[in-house]
Amino acid sequence: MDNRPIGMFDSGVGGLTVYKEIKKAMPNEKIIYLGDTKNFPYGSKSKQSIIDLSKKNIDFLLKQNVKTIVIACGTATSQALEEVQSIYKVPIIGIIQPTIEYIKSKENIKNVGVIATRGTIRSKSWEVNLKSQIEDINVYNKECPLLAPMAEEGWVDNEIAKLTIHEYIKEFPKLDALILGCTHYPLFKKIIEEQMPNTEIINTGEKLASHIKNMIELSTNKEKAQDEIYLTDTECNFINVSYKLLNEKIELKKATI
Ligand code: DGL
Repeated sequence: MDNRPIGMFDSGVGGLTVYKEIKKAMPNEKIIYLGDTKNFPYGSKSKQSIIDLSKKNIDFLLKQNVKTIVIACGTATSQALEEVQSIYKVPIIGIIQPTIEYIKSKENIKNVGVIATRGTIRSKSWEVNLKSQIEDINVYNKECPLLAPMAEEGWVDNEIAKLTIHEYIKEFPKLDALILGCTHYPLFKKIIEEQMPNTEIINTGEKLASHIKNMIELSTNKEKAQDEIYLTDTECNFINVSYKLLNEKIELKKATI
């Protein structure tokens, strides 16, 4: 048993899609969430910048005495996970491997699309990991640089969102599954499902939550824990978007990293 909190970070509100799934799977675990809104977006930054920012986020979370770190960000998972795992002793988990484990267990998934930020697609992390672990899998990538900023704005269910998603997915061949490789994208899940009715849409946060449940030492808390949500810049739309996603008003704290 370990009563310390789970620490999570993302560049902004997207990681809350992972937070939501962890909360659903383990309501009594306390979570400390850090949204690095001051440095949003991560998707257009260099690998070295993502590594540097990830280290700062992890240092902040370690000061809050967390037992494990969840990188609730596809961009940081794809470009910084290996590096930070080699530096820190605390267990650090990203969004890619739990999803690959899930796809491995599904024999019918052979044609997979990945939509993600520019940095994630450039890193080829999804493609390399999928192809090295699953035989005969076809991977189709598409970078979608407009989606995370739209999600931060709360533009997740309007006509612009529908058109933008259509533009990004229109050239995919018939897919068995589409991986939402950026944690902001589950906010668009409804629209994506409407446009791809015969494709399984994979929310990586869901896969991560069931994976982490078997991996960490759970706490002895008997009640739903009071989480702490920190942002590096509170001058943003986080409260409104988080309300759309979680259906509850959250209290924000300011973090300096
Ligand atoms: N939520 C992020 C991801 O999963 C980052 C988006 C961004 O900051 O560009 O990639």
